[in-house]
Amino acid sequence: MSLPERKYDIVVYGATGFTGRLVAEYLAENVDFSKTKWAIAGRSEYKLLQLKNQLVVQYPELRNLDVILADTNQYDTLETLAKSTKVVITTVGPYLLYGEPIVKACVEAGTHCVDLVGEPDYVHHIYKHYDFPASRSGSLIINSCGFDSVPADLGTFYTAQLLGDGDNKSINAYVTVKGNISGGTLASAMGVFENVDEAFLMDIPYRFGSAKAKLIHYQNDVNKWALPMPVIDPLIVSRSSRERKDIYGENFSYAQYFGFRRPITIGTTILGLSALVVASKVKVLRDKIVQTKPSGNGPSVEERAKSFFELNFIGVSGSKTVITKVSGGDPGYTETSKMLAEAALTIVNNLSDYINKGGVKTPAGALGEKYLNRLIEKGIKFEQVQ
Ligand SMILES: NC(=O)c1ccc[n+]([C@@H]2O[C@H](COP(=O)([O-])OP(=O)(O)OC[C@H]3O[C@@H](n4cnc5c(N)ncnc54)[C@H](OP(=O)(O)O)[C@@H]3O)[C@@H](O)[C@H]2O)c1
Repeated sequence: MSLPERKYDIVVYGATGFTGRLVAEYLAENVDFSKTKWAIAGRSEYKLLQLKNQLVVQYPELRNLDVILADTNQYDTLETLAKSTKVVITTVGPYLLYGEPIVKACVEAGTHCVDLVGEPDYVHHIYKHYDFPASRSGSLIINSCGFDSVPADLGTFYTAQLLGDGDNKSINAYVTVKGNISGGTLASAMGVFENVDEAFLMDIPYRFGSAKAKLIHYQNDVNKWALPMPVIDPLIVSRSSRERKDIYGENFSYAQYFGFRRPITIGTTILGLSALVVASKVKVLRDKIVQTKPSGNGPSVEERAKSFFELNFIGVSGSKTVITKVSGGDPGYTETSKMLAEAALTIVNNLSDYINKGGVKTPAGALGEKYLNRLIEKGIKFEQVQ
C-alpha cells in the first residue's frame, strides 16, 4: 500500500519504555488526533493498555488510540506494523540488541523510521547495510533524532548557515549538560563501553576534516574548559555536511568538546567514564551496574525540571567568525522525546518532499530547515551570540 493510503501517520514502537512513553505523551499533548493518526506499539499488551488508559484520562479523544503488538523476535509482527504506517518512531533499545529488525521491516515496506540511537557501531551497521536498499524502496531511515545528535547536528547546520556561502568552514562545539539517565540509556552505554577497544581510544572520533587535535584546553570565547567528546555526534555531523554541501561547503571541519565551567569537572568526568569502561569489560560488574537502573525507569518529573543543556558553537569561515548557542531543558528525556516526535512530524507534514529521497540519513541532512523551524517553535533555543 502506498504511503498516503496507510492507516496511521505515526506508530510509536517501544511506547512502554521510559522514553517511548514520553513520546506518546508529547504526541497526545501536541497533535490533533482527528488529523494526525498515531498508535502505540510494543510487545506487552498489558503495558500498552495501561499506558493507553493513563493517556485517556487526560486526553479523552485518545479512547480510539490503537494498540499494536509487535515483538522484535517475531518478524511477521514487525512487517505488519511497518506496512500500517507512514512513519515508525522506534525507542526499542539498546539498539545494538533490538534495533535492526524494525529497520529491516521499514526498509522493505518503504516506511520512514526515526530513532534515538547513540551507539556508533549500530549507526555504522545500519548505514552500511540499509542505505542502498532504503534508497531503492524510498524509506527514510534517520538515526540519532534525540539529544544524540540533534543539538549538535542542527546547531552546526544553523551555524554553517550563518557563516554564509563559502568553502573551508570550521565549527567547534562545546557541550554542557545537567541531567540524569534512564535504565535504557545506561544499558546502551554499557554496551558501547564494552565494545570500546584500544583502536577506538587511539583514534578518538571527536573531530573530522582539518580540525586540529586539541586535548584539554580553556576556550576563552565561550568561557569553558574543553575536553574532547568522542560520541556519535561528530559522525552524524560529518554525514550531514556531505549531504548538504549547499550549507556546509567543501572541506568542512568539525570538533566537539565537553564544555565545563570548572576544571575539576574534567578530572571527575575522566575518572567516572574510565571506571565505567573498565567495569563494562567484566560481566559481573556490568550486570550489577545495569541492575541499578532497570528498564522502564528514568529521572522523575522534578529531576527533569532541574536539568538543562547548552551547546556553544564557534564557526569560522575565512575572516568571518560566528558564535551561536543551542539550549533547552532536560536533554535526555523531555527534550529528546520532543526532538524525536518533531522529526516524525516533519516527515508526516511534508510527505511529498521525501518521495524518492530514501536512504539512511541524518536529522540535518534529511530534514534541515523545516525540522529546525519546528524545534524553534517548540522552544528549543537557537541563538546567534556574536
Ligand atoms: N540518544 C539519546 O539522546 C537517547 C535519549 C534517551 C534514550 N535513548 C535510547 O533509547 C532507547 C530506549 O531508552 P529507554 O530509557 O526508553 O529504555 P527502556 O525504558 O528500557 O525501554 C525499552 C523499550 O524497548 C522495548 N523492548 C525491549 N525488547 C523488546 C522486544 N524484544 N520487542 C519489542 N520491544 C522490546 C521495551 O518493552 P517492554 O516495556 O515490554 O520491556 C521498552 O518499551 C535506549 O537505547 C536509549 O539509549 C537515547
